[in-house]
Amino acid sequence: MTTTALITGASRGIGRELVKQLAARGVTVLAAGRDAALLASLRAETGCLIQAGDLRDPATVLALYAAAKAALGEIDWLVNNAGFNNRKAPLAETGLDEFEAQYAVNLRAPYLLCREAMRDLTRRRTGHIVNVISTCALHANETMGVYSAMKWGLRGLTGVLVKEARPYGVKVTAVYPGGVNTAFRAQSRPDYLRPDSVATAIVNVLFAPADLVVHELTFRPLAECNF
Ligand SMILES: NC(=O)c1ccc[n+]([C@@H]2O[C@H](COP(=O)([O-])OP(=O)(O)OC[C@H]3O[C@@H](n4cnc5c(N)ncnc54)[C@H](OP(=O)(O)O)[C@@H]3O)[C@@H](O)[C@H]2O)c1
Repeated sequence: MTTTALITGASRGIGRELVKQLAARGVTVLAAGRDAALLASLRAETGCLIQAGDLRDPATVLALYAAAKAALGEIDWLVNNAGFNNRKAPLAETGLDEFEAQYAVNLRAPYLLCREAMRDLTRRRTGHIVNVISTCALHANETMGVYSAMKWGLRGLTGVLVKEARPYGVKVTAVYPGGVNTAFRAQSRPDYLRPDSVATAIVNVLFAPADLVVHELTFRPLAECNF
């Protein structure tokens, strides 16, 4: 039986590199994102399955899980990677629309997918959930209030899941990357981590020995030291 995985935010950046590396290791992956053309090119490159949809809509999130389950049979690994921060701004200058969009994608969507996956994985007594958070959830950074609120929320949710999943033999990992050079921000940051390096770190967590679970994984580019 091959291992199966649902990866969100797979059209570009960290998620795209993760799909490539998992497919190369024989994992059957369903890659999710919004950009159908980018997903189609990833399918052509790796043979992965794809599903396009906007995670701002909770019905679309649940439909994604159902479609992934139907396509994969069972979902062994869930990687909640999709996320965004539209801009940096002092809290006083942010709007409710930004808050609600970030809440929907960065917190509510992973909550829903974790909930669905936990129902299946605890029944099957196997599997692994990886939530891609950010070192933003380890510190308080000015001008990152809305993004931080969601990522701190996801950190809390992931910590609870670590404990709730453990009795069932289900692994849960919180990943805290520092800066990564992707389309996440408008300007290129060659001094930041390469997305394929981040993907390699996540792949190593997923392929860790059966008796070993990585609860938290924090890493940064050499350019950063926010210890
Ligand atoms: N880059 C960094 O410095 C950094 C640092 C720490 C943590 N992270 C986290 O790492 C994760 C991946 O980020 P990245 O750097 O790889 O960013 P990226 O290159 O911008 O990729 C973001 C991915 O999320 C998807 N996404 C965004 N909004 C979506 C929506 N409404 N519905 C469905 N999919 C949506 C995008 O899909 P489409 O493009 O198809 O819309 C894309 O595949 C995020 O959770 C981010 O918060 C990033």
